[in-house]
Amino acid sequence: MKDNWTIIVLCCIWGLCAQAQEVSVSKALYRQGNDMSWAKPDVDDASWSEIDITKQWDKQGFPRNNNAYGWYRIHVTIPKSLLVGADQQNVVVLHMPKADDVDECYLNGKLIGSTGRMPTDPSGYLCGVDVVRDYPVDIKSGVIRWDADNVIAVRVYNRGGSGGLFWRPLTLRCPNAAEGLAMRLTEENNGQSHCDIEISSAYASTASGTLDVTLTDRETGAKVKSLSKKLSIKRNKPARFSLPYDKHKMCLLTASYTDKETGKVLSESKQLKYILTPPTPATPRFNGAPVYGVSPGSPVIYRFPVSGEKPMKFTCDDLPAGLQLSDEGALSGRVDKPCVLSFNITAENAQGKASQVFTLKVGEHMIGQTPPMGWNSWNCWGLSVSQEKVISSTQALIDKGLADFGYNYINIDDGWEAESRNPDGTIEANGKFPSMKGMIDWLHERGLKFGIYSSPGDKTCGGYLGSLGHEKQDAEVWNEWGVDYLKYDWCSYERVREKDNDWGFASCLRPYLLMQKFVREQPRDIFYSLGPLGGTQVYLWGIYCDGNSWRTAQDIDDTWASIRDVGFRQQAGKAQYSSVGHWNDPDMLVVGKVGWGRELRETRLTPDEQYTHITLWTLLASNMLIGCDIAQMDDFTLNLLCNNEVNAINQDILGKQADRVLKEGDIEVWSRPLADGTVAAGIFNVGDSDRGVDMKALINLLPTSSEEKDRKEPGSVRDLWRQKNLSADELNCTIPAHGCRYLKIIVK
Ligand code: GLA
Repeated sequence: MKDNWTIIVLCCIWGLCAQAQEVSVSKALYRQGNDMSWAKPDVDDASWSEIDITKQWDKQGFPRNNNAYGWYRIHVTIPKSLLVGADQQNVVVLHMPKADDVDECYLNGKLIGSTGRMPTDPSGYLCGVDVVRDYPVDIKSGVIRWDADNVIAVRVYNRGGSGGLFWRPLTLRCPNAAEGLAMRLTEENNGQSHCDIEISSAYASTASGTLDVTLTDRETGAKVKSLSKKLSIKRNKPARFSLPYDKHKMCLLTASYTDKETGKVLSESKQLKYILTPPTPATPRFNGAPVYGVSPGSPVIYRFPVSGEKPMKFTCDDLPAGLQLSDEGALSGRVDKPCVLSFNITAENAQGKASQVFTLKVGEHMIGQTPPMGWNSWNCWGLSVSQEKVISSTQALIDKGLADFGYNYINIDDGWEAESRNPDGTIEANGKFPSMKGMIDWLHERGLKFGIYSSPGDKTCGGYLGSLGHEKQDAEVWNEWGVDYLKYDWCSYERVREKDNDWGFASCLRPYLLMQKFVREQPRDIFYSLGPLGGTQVYLWGIYCDGNSWRTAQDIDDTWASIRDVGFRQQAGKAQYSSVGHWNDPDMLVVGKVGWGRELRETRLTPDEQYTHITLWTLLASNMLIGCDIAQMDDFTLNLLCNNEVNAINQDILGKQADRVLKEGDIEVWSRPLADGTVAAGIFNVGDSDRGVDMKALINLLPTSSEEKDRKEPGSVRDLWRQKNLSADELNCTIPAHGCRYLKIIVK
């Protein structure tokens, strides 16, 4: 018996349960090895070593073994007095230390919880190192020996580095009534939208109480709906409640559950997705920039982005020689000599017709007249990308109408490369891409372009084959396949610099210049996109490698912290490095279902943060590469990406990127001049609480061009998301935390 190691703490946990007690233990007996019989209570552990469970085993003199198991045995007296005054008389919770990497916890020989997955698990090893472990024990199960010796045996597996239990002492206590309850608010935004409230219980006892739900319109402050419902919640039988809502309103959902027995309250609120973009008209509407650039002799691959009811037929009476236009609006062909060709394209459907005077600029360095728009596999599928997934997102891009708004590049990121090169040094795709050429032809037939990924090092960031030593061969293979875009990512090239001990400026440019040469030698246009380098500033020299875009930040993720850092902090002051055909690229979009692997989840950005993300990225003249699975895209995300007036800022042919022009506390204004003489401005609230903003005062502070010197008043101010002109009254508004307003200002 090791009762001397057991510290029984009688403490008050204010606010939860005034008299609740807690047992806390920080010492155990320890043995390396993996004998499952050590889970049993009656094992002779007298010869085991003493160990502190708040520090990993190797930090206490025990060996630091990789792929090693260790067992902890904790002898503890559990006093019946633990139940005195507790709300929950049916459960005791073991708040465990963390385990490096995976644990299984037994109480008196019975498994009561585990976190992560042992390597022997049929689903494979899963690290659980940073997960908080709370294991509930049902009192009715009889496993607890009251006022007697209990044995908590913990089996820990460590894959590498430090191992074992660590972080804090183990504690046992009776939770308060609401503690085992969890509330989850979700929503469906397709067709008829509804929000769902789910309350589940981790504990055996049934809870009953009242759920109060309110929907508030945040723009007007009005209560849209309010109701109350009695619920009974059993373990493994969560209570669910669904409520329809109008996705065109800015609805805030608030739900609170009051426990009948104890009066404890559980509350959550969620800003539901709201659509600001007005419905797309059924008549044809051209949504793309009226200009496109191509090199002499390079295949023209362009799909006219026109929304409206289908079927739609495209015609052109003055189509220049060498070009063909399909009925569905795909422009193809070649023009051999440099020239500027303007012609009139007409789109017609059952509802009407529309025309656009379109200019094709044929010449050297004409690629990327406007920033590329399209899709990239990385932020959703990561290394699990496959031909099937690419085709599924492409088909959805067409079917859901994204192609009608200008999204036309379909880019695969890392994970397409074969394990090794062919004997002649050429590269092939791996088994996930049974027919790369076939897939690319399929895209081209639809007027869509195809992008690929590689690295100047021997390995890509994901550990696949890079192009080092095979640059020419790779560029030639890509040309044969019909590649239109190359993302060339630094990654393992750092090792070449290390080997050569060459840290100069030229050592950054060298591999990019080499690939530039081979890419530009191909008889087709390949948009050349440069990846991010560790500490170096690609935007300073990307233009010297004829880069069409370059990353201006490290990798993005789907959190506000990332948008704030990658978008606001890292892009300020960079407008000077962007120009037509050479764009700054703050990384791909993180709206919709993302995941960087096999399993996707809803982006963690709130709806307000997503409006901010798209507003800022379009202002920044950034590459607009959708990062989610398009097949699973809901109405909210679709409307976010398909607002023609918002996208027109990104595609503005003046090509002047926005920069931050004002910063007052949490309010930032980013603006850019547009080809039609107007100004686009994003007014952002990067703070954590809603802010009242006088937009007129901010507009008056915006920099003006020389002709506008006398300007006192803004002319009309258009809200780009809502696509309506604002009245003077509407210029005083509240901008939600992390939200924005997007304006186009016509100067009087
Ligand atoms: C780097 C890039 C990402 C992605 C991965 C692929 O991290 O920045 O965008 O391409 O490599 O491995």
